[in-house]
Amino acid sequence: MAEQLIIDGERVAASDAGTFDVYDPSSGKVLAEVAKATRADVDRAVKSARAALEAKTWGGAAPAERGRIMIRIAQAIRDRAEELAMLESHDNGKPLRQARTDVQVAARYFEFFAGVADKIMGRTIPLGPGLLDYTVREPIGVCAQIIPWNYPIQIGARGVAPALAAGCTVVLKPAEDAPMTALRLGEIAMECGLAPGVLNVLPGMGPEAGAALASHPDINQLTFTGSVEVGIAVAKMAAENVVPVVMELGGKSPNIVFADADLDVTAQGVANAIFQNAGQTCSAGSRLLVERKAHDALVSRLNDRAKSMRVGPGVSDPDMGPIISKKQLETVEGYVRIGRDEGAEVTAGGARPSDASLAGGFYFQPTLLDRVAPDMRVAQEEIFGPVLAIITFDDLDEAIEIANRSQYGLVAGVWTRDINKAMTVASRIKTGQVYVNTYGAGGGVELPFGGYKKSGYGREKGLDALASYTQIKNVCVRFA
Ligand code: NAI
Ligand code: MG
Repeated sequence: MAEQLIIDGERVAASDAGTFDVYDPSSGKVLAEVAKATRADVDRAVKSARAALEAKTWGGAAPAERGRIMIRIAQAIRDRAEELAMLESHDNGKPLRQARTDVQVAARYFEFFAGVADKIMGRTIPLGPGLLDYTVREPIGVCAQIIPWNYPIQIGARGVAPALAAGCTVVLKPAEDAPMTALRLGEIAMECGLAPGVLNVLPGMGPEAGAALASHPDINQLTFTGSVEVGIAVAKMAAENVVPVVMELGGKSPNIVFADADLDVTAQGVANAIFQNAGQTCSAGSRLLVERKAHDALVSRLNDRAKSMRVGPGVSDPDMGPIISKKQLETVEGYVRIGRDEGAEVTAGGARPSDASLAGGFYFQPTLLDRVAPDMRVAQEEIFGPVLAIITFDDLDEAIEIANRSQYGLVAGVWTRDINKAMTVASRIKTGQVYVNTYGAGGGVELPFGGYKKSGYGREKGLDALASYTQIKNVCVRFA
């Protein structure tokens, strides 16, 4: 039987009984049949979320009680960690150890925001004698969340946990390419005592279920993670109903390496930043900006790494798994062709692996494109695959100029032993996060995350995420 939707605390088929197939990208075979949510299903889910928002069991519950349920969810995710990691690895293709990390990070989101549920405080504002003014941070209401396939359980938890902590209810639409662990998350939440309707999970197609949700007149907020193109489309739909949006749209994040950096540590960091999850990461470090003096030494280290990486099925825990789909694989291949035509030099990878045992899956080799110029398409466009564009610079000003010459601005890394160089880059770079001599931080649950420029707006993760899920009511009282 097909995996069913989660609406109003129940597992149900789609209103028209429709389903779709979900593939394991490691083998190209069908992993599961999943109910395909319709517009009518979305409408039911939004109504259920609205009712739960008004009910004593959630919207009216004590904040500490919300936190308690969320702690139970965190624990239940940990109890089922291995099962969830296996499922994520099959569904998305990612190496098992990455999937294990993702599951722990998902648990961590619930834990972090559980602790916040009873600490969402307002202020008093001094107005002088006879007046008391105070603010209350109320839940924004019914939250719609549309997530991608690259980190389903992590990104699902990243949006759901702060929304629940704030007292909101959620309708979550996972991506059609990898919807499985989001459904498990919904199931776990129900088992942990989350009231019906507080978290609905509706797998379905973007243009149907996704668009029905984004344009629904009775949602109060929308969190979207995915492509710029669809982000703009859903923001327009939400705008019709004056619904605010958090948009996380990916990037072309630079790792800037100065010649004085520890090149062994740097090579490891730079390689991981691009090859983790086969480069299908919004914050992937997909541009390497390296100081000319260090170019040959760093690129030779990266070549060695890229060529020694084992590519294989996610559940065999290789160094790198497959690309999510045939379509995405062809996009990646297309970009390598474009890079070659533009004059870039492929120093590692550049093709599908020849290993016959991998023929059914959607594999691509870890790829380095050297001699990339800053304005080439491979330096400007998000490839979303294991392809690193390598650009050489001569001095600090040039490095910053090239780094900022992008429509994106999600993350930047800077690698140097010189504190002055590090701090100058940190202050002049136009990105939402900057890492010095590291890249990413174990999921970064605690750290505000979001874009400058076309990487999006609004912040997820950390305490700043709560701004999207609360609205401020100001109360002014005159007394005699
Ligand atoms: P996408 O933007 O189409 O998909 C993301 C989510 O949006 C999915 O849940 C999808 O069902 C939904 N969606 C698609 N069309 C929709 C519509 N008309 N209305 C409402 N929802 C809709 O991303 P896709 O096609 O999977 O990947 C294309 C490119 O997007 C990638 O190559 C990559 O560059 C970028 N991307 C960025 C991500 C990030 O983490 N920022 C994640 C996934 C993709
Ligand atoms: Mg799409």
